[in-house]
Amino acid sequence: MIYLDNSATTYPKPYSVREAVAAAMKNGANPGRSGHTPSIKASEKIFEARKTAANFFGLKNETNVIFTLNCTMSLNMVIKGILKPGDHVVVSSLEHNSVMRPIEKMKNIGITYTQAKVFVKDNDRTLDSFRKAINAKTRMIVCTHASNVWGIKLPIERISALAHEYGLLVAVDAAQTAGVVPIDVSDSRIDFLCVPGHKGLYGPMGTGILIVSGDIAPDSLMEGGTGSGSISYSQPAGLPDKLESGTPNFSGIAGLKSGMDYVSRVKIENIAKHEFALVKHLYRELRKINGVKLYMPEPEPDYFVPILSFNIDGKDSESVAKDLNYRGIAVRAGLHCSPAAHRAFQTEETGAVRISPSSFTSMREIDYLISAVKRI
Ligand code: ALA
Repeated sequence: MIYLDNSATTYPKPYSVREAVAAAMKNGANPGRSGHTPSIKASEKIFEARKTAANFFGLKNETNVIFTLNCTMSLNMVIKGILKPGDHVVVSSLEHNSVMRPIEKMKNIGITYTQAKVFVKDNDRTLDSFRKAINAKTRMIVCTHASNVWGIKLPIERISALAHEYGLLVAVDAAQTAGVVPIDVSDSRIDFLCVPGHKGLYGPMGTGILIVSGDIAPDSLMEGGTGSGSISYSQPAGLPDKLESGTPNFSGIAGLKSGMDYVSRVKIENIAKHEFALVKHLYRELRKINGVKLYMPEPEPDYFVPILSFNIDGKDSESVAKDLNYRGIAVRAGLHCSPAAHRAFQTEETGAVRISPSSFTSMREIDYLISAVKRI
């Protein structure tokens, strides 16, 4: 199988990640709960993983690294833990349902939102639409770093500067950028960075990170045992315990640490360079095929991440994906849980066929895809 659905989850995982998960399952006890050696060793491993994540994202204090189940959970923790009745929030026109659904639900308690239009390769106009969307009640900007459908990269440093100019908080959905685009939360002044562990960081599914970089931490969505301050019925106020209740996914976190180590070893710039070479080649070849519709200009690292979506005239995207699957190629079609992003480019009826490579994808595999599309 040629796997080109790495925006959904990277596959395969590096050997070192699989080994780290297996080792943690073999030796792991409940971290931070008991005074015996296996529990202490597990706590140390989690601490190392926190330090690795802090270094990876330019955070000074590793206690502000919160381990979650996925990027959606991190986003829900920020959106529901920060916004209060009457608050207004600005989002982009390309948000995933992991942002749209929680804020849409919060209309119940009087939260309102505005979608700021994103302009392809025109960051000045994009910034202007964010500025215009801010009103007197705006408390936070929640914004994807890159569209999971079109690969469009948003000028997140400028959006963050804009947010701070107006005294707003900024939360970034790094679902498609963590591990592919360098992110430094301190330099960029991103208050909350929401990260999946299982995509560009090559960790196991069921892992995610929330980085709390500013002075304000969200309220907890879930309370319970933390292994600390157990005499009290109240949730601890300090991080990470405030936001991490219950037994953590120890083997998953061990694998995630190993995934981050893998990306650091290979280097983000090499991964991005490799993946861009693949999607650029794909773009140039698809452009030559009659009946293939490309919606974006050729992907450039300044404005895109290496994700490419297309359609074939007269064919539904799901049927193309089915045909490709039959030919041994795994891609994702349909709406990618991002109806907003599809609406922005009038593809909500057809969906689109999405190609997303990883550091393990080869040029031969892309050539095989190109010949399969030609046959279809
Ligand atoms: N959000 C993931 C995707 O884009 C699952 O496929």
